Amino acid sequence: MTAHDQLVLVLDFGAQYGQLIARRVRDLHVYSEIIPCDTPAQEIAALNPDALILSGGPASVYADDAPDVDEKIFELGIPVLGFCYGQQIMAVKLGGSVGHTEIGEYGHTCLHVQGESQLFAGTPREQQVWMSHRDAVSVVPEGFAVTSTTDVCPVASMECAERRLYATQFHPEVRHTPYGNDLLGNFLFKICGLKPSWTMEGIIEQKVAEIREQTKGEKVILALSGGVDSAVAAALVHRAVGDKLTCIFVNHGLLRKGEPESVEQVFTEQFGIPLIHVHAERRYADLLKGVVDPEEKRRRIGGEFWKVFFEEAQRMDGVKYLAQGTIYPDIIESGARKTGGKASTIKSHHNLIPFPDGVHFDLVEPLDHFFKDEVRALGTALGLPDEIVYRQPFPGPGLAIRIIGEVTLDKLEILKNADAVVREELDAYNAKLFAETGERNSEHSCWQYFAVLPDIRSVGVMGDERTYQRPVIIRAVESSDAMTADWAKLPYEVLARISGRIVAEVPGINRVAYDITSKPPATIEWE
Ligand code: XMP
Repeated sequence: MTAHDQLVLVLDFGAQYGQLIARRVRDLHVYSEIIPCDTPAQEIAALNPDALILSGGPASVYADDAPDVDEKIFELGIPVLGFCYGQQIMAVKLGGSVGHTEIGEYGHTCLHVQGESQLFAGTPREQQVWMSHRDAVSVVPEGFAVTSTTDVCPVASMECAERRLYATQFHPEVRHTPYGNDLLGNFLFKICGLKPSWTMEGIIEQKVAEIREQTKGEKVILALSGGVDSAVAAALVHRAVGDKLTCIFVNHGLLRKGEPESVEQVFTEQFGIPLIHVHAERRYADLLKGVVDPEEKRRRIGGEFWKVFFEEAQRMDGVKYLAQGTIYPDIIESGARKTGGKASTIKSHHNLIPFPDGVHFDLVEPLDHFFKDEVRALGTALGLPDEIVYRQPFPGPGLAIRIIGEVTLDKLEILKNADAVVREELDAYNAKLFAETGERNSEHSCWQYFAVLPDIRSVGVMGDERTYQRPVIIRAVESSDAMTADWAKLPYEVLARISGRIVAEVPGINRVAYDITSKPPATIEWE
C-alpha cells in the first residue's frame, strides 16, 4: 500500500485559501494537493481523486474575469465540497443563483444548523463559524437542501447528499471556525469513506521507494546549507540510497557560531553520510571586500554558492543526480504547479540552477510536495535533532546582512559571539514557554532572534578606561509567517541578562540596544 493511495484535490480559486485547505486535509492524514481551479474535468478524472474541494477566493462569480471551473467535475461521481466562492460557483454551475448583498458578512458569525446533515454530524446545532463574503447563494440548485443559515445568510451551507455534493458559505479551514476540522473530517471519513492513512512512516516508505526507483543505484550529490529543507532531504535520500549519497557543505563563514560544526557532526557522526566540507570562508570574505550595498551582498553570495558547489561536484566521478530540498510552497509560488503526486520533477526548477557549461545532473526533489511543518515532522521521524529541525528562519546570505556596511572576518567574529549569547538566552526563554504551553510558537515566544552589528562606534567606560568600541543591536520578533512581525516584549530580566553577558563576554562590544520596531514599517532584518 502506498502512503497516498487516497487523493483529495483542492481546486484553487485564490491561492491563500487553497494551501490552508490542503494542509488541513493532510493534518487529518489524507493526502491532498492543490490544482488550478480551471483544470479540465478530464484531467482531474485521470488523477483519480477520491474527493474534490473547491476553495474560496476573492472574486465575485459574476465578474468578467471570475475564476471558472469545468462544470463536468460535478458529473464525475466524485464527492465535492465547496467553501465560500466554491459554494457560489457550485450553485451557479448547477442552476442556482448568487445574489450580491450590500453589507456582506465578515468575521465570527453564529450558525444555525438545519435538518440532519452528515457534514455537521457530532457538532452543535448552534456554532460559531468564520464568514468573509459579500455575495451569497440566494437560490440553491435543484435537488439541494439548505443545511444551515445565519441571521444574514439564508444559505450558509447546502448539499445534495445523493450526489455527494456539499458546500458552505463559511470557511471551515480557518481556526476561527472551531468545528471546522470536524466538518472536514465528516466529509472525508463519513461522506467519502476515506481512511486516515497518510502517516509519517508511510510517507517515508513511499519516498524511499520513489527515490530508489528514480536513481537506480547511481550516485547522488546534495548541497547542505545548514537549513532545515536540505538537511531533511539529505536524511531522506540517505535512507533511500545509503552511501551513494555525498553531501557538499559550502561553508561561507556566514553561518552562526557553532552551526558548521553541528552540521558536520550530525551528518558524518550520526548519519555516517560522506560529507565534503568546503572551507570557503576566506573566499567569501574576499568576495565581500568593500561591498556595502545589501543587494550587492546578496547577489555576490548567491552567485558564488553554485560556483563553489560545482567546482567541488566536478571533482567527483560518475555522479548522475543532484538532490535538492525544494518544498511545496516553493513550487506553488514559482507557478510551476504539477499534479499527480508521485515523483513529479519540476522542470522549471532546472532553470534556477546555473549549471556550468557541459555539466548536468538530473534533479531529485523528494520534498517537493511537502509543507514546511511536514518537512519538520519528516526530519524528526528520520532522526534529525531539534536544533536542525526547529532551527529558526535564517537568511540565505547569512550574517552578511546582519553586519551593516562592509563585512570583515573581525566583524563576523564579534557578531557571531554576540549572536550566540542572544540565541542561548532566547532559546532558553522559548524552551520555558514551550514547556508551559506545549506550543512551539506560542503567544509570547520569539519567532526569530539575533544580533545585528551596525557600522558605528560608541563611547563607553570600563574600569577606569574610556572605551571606543562597537554597539550591538538585539532583534527579537514574534510572528507566524515573517510577513508581519511585532517586536518581542521580552521580560526586563531577560534583556538585562543578554546585555550583561554580551558586554562581559564579547570583546569589542561596549553597548547593547534593543530594536523596538514592528514590521511594517521596519523589516525583520536590518538589511
Ligand atoms: P524581512 O527582513 O524582509 O525578512 O522582514 C522576512 C524573512 O525573510 C528572511 N530574509 C531572507 N531570507 N534570503 C533569505 O533566504 C534573504 O536575502 C533574506 N532577507 C530576509 C528574514 O530572515 C525573515 O525571516
